[in-house]
Amino acid sequence: MPSLVEPVLSAGNMAMLKQPLLRADGLVLRPWEPSDRPAVLAGYADPAIQRWHCRTMTDAEARDWIAHWPDRWQAETGAGWAVVDSSEVVGQISLRRLDLSEGQAEAAYWVLPAARGRRVAPRALTTLATWAFATLGLHRVELYHSTSNPASCRVAQRAGFTAEGTKRGEARHTDGWHDMHVHARLDSDPDPAG
Ligand SMILES: CC(C)(COP(=O)(O)OP(=O)(O)OC[C@H]1O[C@@H](n2cnc3c(N)ncnc32)[C@H](O)[C@@H]1OP(=O)(O)O)[C@@H](O)C(=O)NCCC(=O)NCCS
Repeated sequence: MPSLVEPVLSAGNMAMLKQPLLRADGLVLRPWEPSDRPAVLAGYADPAIQRWHCRTMTDAEARDWIAHWPDRWQAETGAGWAVVDSSEVVGQISLRRLDLSEGQAEAAYWVLPAARGRRVAPRALTTLATWAFATLGLHRVELYHSTSNPASCRVAQRAGFTAEGTKRGEARHTDGWHDMHVHARLDSDPDPAG
């Protein structure tokens, strides 16, 4: 059945772009490289990242995780960047559940323990969202965090992602169902970086 609503973006709009390197107020967001495997492993070995991202990773899985990002880019379903500070990988940021025809995606991020508290995540998220609107052409980027994770709420607020409400019992964690806070930034919202 033909839709009466035009797609926000046509298929092919993302795959035709090269994944960019983005500069984020002193940080660099760049495509993952095979040599980043130890940083990915360290991330998924951290108890806080395991708690909120609900997964662990073997060495082989970390290799595959890195290797799959270009496929996701080509399939126009997701995009992942290593967040780099002074040549060191300090975190990850990604767009998942990407839907070009609806012009929407969900952002996800983590920062390695030693780099926390320096606004790495808000800087990366602000820059990624601005690119997603201005260059890719998305309309809405949303993010979800457990209501028990106030640090992530602060990241969303600092990056200009408006709090929209709470989805009750929406996500299963190792300790059971969590209520999830929804935040989003629209292409028409102000850029917090000015
Ligand atoms: C949440 C997270 C991404 C924040 O990244 P960040 O780059 O440290 O972000 P910020 O520096 O802006 O700090 C955000 C909040 O983290 C808390 N924080 C500050 N220093 C911290 C530290 N050393 N260790 C842990 N949390 C710290 C503070 O509450 C801060 O908010 P405030 O400055 O208003 O008090 C990071 O703590 C992390 O990766 N946590 C584990 C995984 C996770 O929660 N991912 C998000 C799932 S939705």
